[in-house]
Formats: sequence, structure tokens, C-alpha cells
Amino acid sequence: MPKLTYLGHSAFLVEGGGTKLVIDPFLNDNPVAATSADRIDVDWVLLTHGHGDHIGDGIEIATRCKATVVAPFELANYCAARGCEVHPMHIGGGYDFPFGRVKLTIAHHGSSAPDGTYTGNPCGFLITMEGKTFYHSGDTGLFLDMQLIGEMNDIAVAVLPIGDNFTMGIDDAVKATEFLRPGLVIPIHYKTFDVIDVEPAAFVDAVSAKGFQARVLEFGGSLDY
Ligand code: NI
Ligand code: MN
Repeated sequence: MPKLTYLGHSAFLVEGGGTKLVIDPFLNDNPVAATSADRIDVDWVLLTHGHGDHIGDGIEIATRCKATVVAPFELANYCAARGCEVHPMHIGGGYDFPFGRVKLTIAHHGSSAPDGTYTGNPCGFLITMEGKTFYHSGDTGLFLDMQLIGEMNDIAVAVLPIGDNFTMGIDDAVKATEFLRPGLVIPIHYKTFDVIDVEPAAFVDAVSAKGFQARVLEFGGSLDY
């Protein structure tokens, strides 16, 4: 059974398929992070886009752990130029890794590194390990293709941004859940900054009223799925 641990913002530790991976490890500069970058020990680092609150400590973690960075092509190249082992991918493409399958989805957002380098298109991840699919949307607005993602994948757990301003807010994340029909939905990308100081319980209440399973995973909290 794979295990998810929410590290805060959009960062997750995923343990399953005989390995550990971290997604969007924005930790040391995140005021609500559940841990620090030096405490992360993983084999893979998955990055949805280049923004500082997503690439975060990814390069440092990947180089220290000799982990491979999985990211959209331009972002993977950016990390490779900074010493990382990388596995570049792109939107619509999937690949069977030793731990399971990763497929990149669209995300309607931007992507540049903190130094201003263009890092291509942002993405979301469909990660299937031990027969269970986890959908991390990355930073995105609502898009109708989520209906297709929901139709073509049996999503056990989906994590969706609710913070508004930079991404979907609560109402759009509820609609996204209706499109995706996941077994469980968990809100992310809230509270970190003043401009996204949104209450996750409000999302859970709204989406539960539509008949979906939802829960707030506290920063540092884990669940098996
Ligand atoms: Ni972003
Ligand atoms: Mn973000």
C-alpha cells in the first residue's frame, strides 16, 4: 500500500513501489513546511514546474541523495545543468519507472525558475504504483480535460490547489473533483502565503456536500492509500 506524507504547500513524500520519491519539495523557505530539506532521503524528485515554491530545494535534495529528477524537458535540462541526474518527460507522455508509472498531464500555469530561466510548460503527475493512482495536479486553473483524466484513470487520491489567486480556488477545485471523481481528494497550496490564506476545511465541507470523500491532511500528516 503506497503511503503519502504531506510536507506542506504542494510537497509530498510518496513511499511505494519499493522506493521513495518527493514531489515539489519547497521546504527550507516555506514557513509552514513539515520538515527541512536535509531530512529528506529519496531516490526520485518529481517537479511540476520551475517556480520557487515548487522546485524549492529539489536540486539540493537530488544532488545530495543522488536522486533522479523527473520533470518536463526544459525544467529537467535546467536541473541537469546544475548537476542533477534527470529523466526528462513531457505532457501526455508516460514512462514505466522501476517504482511504477508516471504520466504528465497539462496544467494551466506558468513555469520559470527563480533566476528567471524559462522552464517550459508546467505539468501535473499521474503516479501509479502498486496498482494505485495518485494525481498531483501541480499549480493549475480548472480545465475541462480533467473530465478526461477522470474518465481514463481510476484515481485513488487526488491533491488539488485551493488557494486561489495563483491557482484554482475552492469553487473550481470542487468542480475539478466532480470531473476527476477520485476516491479521496486532499486540498493543497493554501496558507503558505498571505495571498492564499484559505481555510481547507471550507473546501472539504463544500466537496463533501457533493458526495465526495475529502480530508485535510495536516502538514506532516500521512495516509496509506
Ligand atoms: Ni507556480
Ligand atoms: Mn505555486
